[in-house]
Order: sequence, then structure tokens, then C-alpha cells
Amino acid sequence: MSEFDPHPIGERARTMIEALASISAGDDRLTRLYLTPEHKQASELVGEWMSRAGLSVRMDSAASMHGRLPAGRAGSRSARRLLIASHIDTVVDGGRYDGSFGVVAGILAIEELRARGIALPFGLEIIAFGDEEGVRFPKTLIGSSAISGNIDPSILETTDHAGETLRNALLDFGCDPDALHSEAYRADEIIGYLEVHIEQGPILDQSDEPLGVVTAIAAQSRHRIRVSGEAGHAGTVPMALRRDALAGAAEVITMVEQLAHSGHRDELVITVGEISISPGAVNVIPGDALLSLDVRAKSDEARAHAVATLRERLHQIGARRGVVIGIETVHEKSVVVCAPWLRAAISSAIGELGGPKPPQLMSGAGHDGLAMAHLTDIGMIFVRCRAGISHSPLEHVSVADMGYAVEALVRTILEIAKGNSE
Ligand code: GLV
Ligand code: MN
Ligand code: MN
Repeated sequence: MSEFDPHPIGERARTMIEALASISAGDDRLTRLYLTPEHKQASELVGEWMSRAGLSVRMDSAASMHGRLPAGRAGSRSARRLLIASHIDTVVDGGRYDGSFGVVAGILAIEELRARGIALPFGLEIIAFGDEEGVRFPKTLIGSSAISGNIDPSILETTDHAGETLRNALLDFGCDPDALHSEAYRADEIIGYLEVHIEQGPILDQSDEPLGVVTAIAAQSRHRIRVSGEAGHAGTVPMALRRDALAGAAEVITMVEQLAHSGHRDELVITVGEISISPGAVNVIPGDALLSLDVRAKSDEARAHAVATLRERLHQIGARRGVVIGIETVHEKSVVVCAPWLRAAISSAIGELGGPKPPQLMSGAGHDGLAMAHLTDIGMIFVRCRAGISHSPLEHVSVADMGYAVEALVRTILEIAKGNSE
């Protein structure tokens, strides 16, 4: 990498990351779900940082925190702005950098631009979304869907595991659920969307590169599979007469794993991440099983083909076992390609810091860019994380890599400014 010393900015990032990581649900793991008291506390902290960076701060009706800096160049009356965002929710027992680092990087980049006396010809807006993981409610990307004008009003009636509706959770948080649909931004006021995010995979680490340019975000869908059998006595119902929902679910899990293995290398990944059964007692044959299913592929065709095959096989398993297997789609996004002009700006910014040909890679993980692409062009900078580990407390990013990432963001913004001199 170049003469640039990443450590001072990287250290500031580390302090902020540690402060955010200390805000968690009441156990020794990092768990910060959407619209919880810890989400509120993290939002307040981010709001303080935004104010300190000179931004005007507001929370929207989806509980996303926004910090805005108007265009700074003398005589510029531009209402147009560049959006820079990531998320502050986590998975259960998650890592401290996923999402949080993107928000921290955005705030630090603005601090750097101001400290260097740079006046831009457009405004900047940092956003901390509250729901990228989609762990609390079955829907996901709620904040980014709201501002990109892509929210389905029925979403308010979805419920979390405790049966609380999104509507009530928003009200308890202090947000107006009925204003969600009016959060949509006007496309002509937005220049583009940038996000810095940890790679969450091994490519940068293996190639010994701190930063990469994202080419596209993989297609994804989430589903709920319900296996309905018949509960009965564990001691009296002969094996041949059972309609065991959990045994059916076990076959479903093995089937989806085989299906994913049968795809082209890295083309398709399928995960069952949650299962609940009822009634759930040692001496009762399970009558009902509910599974979550997450399907991702590098192309829309591969994902659609996998889901179609999966439906067929579910039907076969159900018929053979005498159980009813239903599948419901709760989230579906096509592949989103990053805009060539933003990729070029990011490449040249990273190129100034390191080699002329920064790695270009596709994201298997989902990001708010999937929703933001409905509004505007998107671009993403990936940052190396140790051994590619993410969604785990072992997630780690070095101080130096955080410093490089913030500087790459600053330089990307300057690249974009070269082409936007209003
Ligand atoms: C979020 O991290 C996702 O890809 O599910
Ligand atoms: Mn993330
Ligand atoms: Mn994540």
C-alpha cells in the first residue's frame, strides 16, 4: 500500500466499533436486533457521532438514523446528495464489524473531508439502517426499502417470534408506522449509494488484499417451510403408521443440502438456519415443524431453478411420508449489479492507495444495496476480514484495514466529485 498511514483513522474506527459492540441484549454475546432497546441505544450513539461530525440528524419512520451535510461549494444550491450507509443491527451472537463498520466509516470519512477543508459540489447523507439482517421479523431491508420507495404496506402486520407486529414494534420505538410509505426519496435528488462493508468471505484475506471492489450482490430468497404431520404417543404408534413432522423436516434439510451441492461450484448456497417443532416433548411424535430456508445464487436463473426443483422435491417427500409440506416466500431479491461508474471511482480510489488493479468480487452476502438499487446506482467497497469469518464473534478487521477503508471512501467521494461539478 502507498505512503498513506492508515493507523490514526483506523484507531478512531476501532474505538467507535468497540463503543457500538458494547451495546447488546443482556448476555455476553453481541446481539442487537431491530427495534429493541439496544437498537435505540446504538442509534442514539450514532446520532451523537453524526452531530459531532457536523451533520443534521433525524430518525425516520423505519428507525433509520440519517445525518446530512449540505453541498459545501460556494454558490452550489444543489439539493443532490450522495448516500453512504450501512446497518447497525446484528445477527444473534454476531460480529462487531458487519454493518457497524460501514456506518463508522461513513462518519469518519465526513470528519476527514471536513478536517481537510474539502467543500463538495453535492451533499452527503450518512444512514444507519436498523434492519439489514432480517433476524427479528421475517422481512428484511426494511429501512432501505422505505427510502427507496419499495415497501409493501402489508409488511406492518408481520410478526416476530414473540408475536409482536412490526407496527407495534415501530410504535413502541417512537416511530410512526403509517409514515413508512412516505419516506421514499426522489431519485433525481440522489447521486448514488455507497457502502463500505466487510467482505464476510475469504477472497481478500487469501489474496492478501485489504480492499476490493464489489461487482454485484447475489440473488437471494427466504422462505418458511411448514411440515404438518400428526402428533401421537411415542410408545404406542407403530413406526409404519407415523406421520412424524420432524423426521420429514430432517429429510427436507438433507435434500436441500444435496440440492445445493449439485449446483455449479459456488453458484448456489442453501441454508436451513432455524427449526421449531411442536408440541416438542420427549414422549410425543412431533406433529408440526417450521423451518427457515435461505437460498442464494450468483444468477437469478440459478436461484429460480433451485427453488422450482426444491418445491418439486418437497412435494415428493410429503407424498411419500404422508405429511403436508407447505412453502411460503417471505423475501426475494434479484441479483443487483454495481454501477460501472461507481465501480470505476472505487477502483481508482483503492488503486491510489495500493496496486492499480484492486480485486473485483461478487457479494454472496445480502446488503441494503439490494433495496437501494430500486432508487439509485449502487457501489460497494469490501474490506478484508480475518479468515473470511463473519456472523460470528470471531469476526475481525485490523486497525490498518479500517484506516485504508475510510481513506478509500474519502477518495471515492472525491472521484465522484470530479464528475459532478454543479
Ligand atoms: C445478511 O448479512 C445476509 O446476507 O443475510
Ligand atoms: Mn451486513
Ligand atoms: Mn450480516
